[in-house]
Amino acid sequence: MSSALKVYQADILTWETRKTFDLILTHSFLGQIAEIERPRMFQKWADLLVPGGALITVNRLRQKAEDVRFTASNAERLAALATERLRNCPQLHTISPNECRQAVLEYALQRETVPLRSANDVAEYCKTAGLVVESLEACVLKKPGALIVGPAVGSSAEYIQLVARKT
Ligand SMILES: C[S@@+](CC[C@H](N)C(=O)[O-])C[C@H]1O[C@@H](n2cnc3c(N)ncnc32)[C@H](O)[C@@H]1O
Repeated sequence: MSSALKVYQADILTWETRKTFDLILTHSFLGQIAEIERPRMFQKWADLLVPGGALITVNRLRQKAEDVRFTASNAERLAALATERLRNCPQLHTISPNECRQAVLEYALQRETVPLRSANDVAEYCKTAGLVVESLEACVLKKPGALIVGPAVGSSAEYIQLVARKT
């Protein structure tokens, strides 16, 4: 089966396009958007959806003060994981394992998450942007270490899963 997939690289907050989409999927993305910009982010998502289109997003919830940066060892783990995956992707062999490791370390060590504090905030952003929440669930991942290599992975991590629709 073949499919036509187009990739655009842009700052989503300032991306100007007439395109609209049936589905927007994001994972661990809201933590990259400053709190003050989040209403604008949800409005942008709403503008990019066709009527009836869906937004599905998953994001870590950090209700308490937590470390929002990668530790050196988490950065190393992420770099090791990326390098291992690269070995299994022959189509990406234009970059060497060492270049990959360096790029990932650079990314991880400069990255900082802006915590998402509550599911209620997400519901409010949806409402303001004209998105109807179909489901908004929180789940706790126990022992997330094997799955997550992001900042500050403790003994458990809480995530929200949102499905919202543009009417
Ligand atoms: C934590 S990563 C998760 C990405 C995705 N879930 C994945 O697994 O590849 C967040 C990504 O958001 C990108 N990002 C941050 N701010 C952005 C913006 N304003 N517009 C577009 N992308 C952005 C970062 O470059 C980073 O690649």
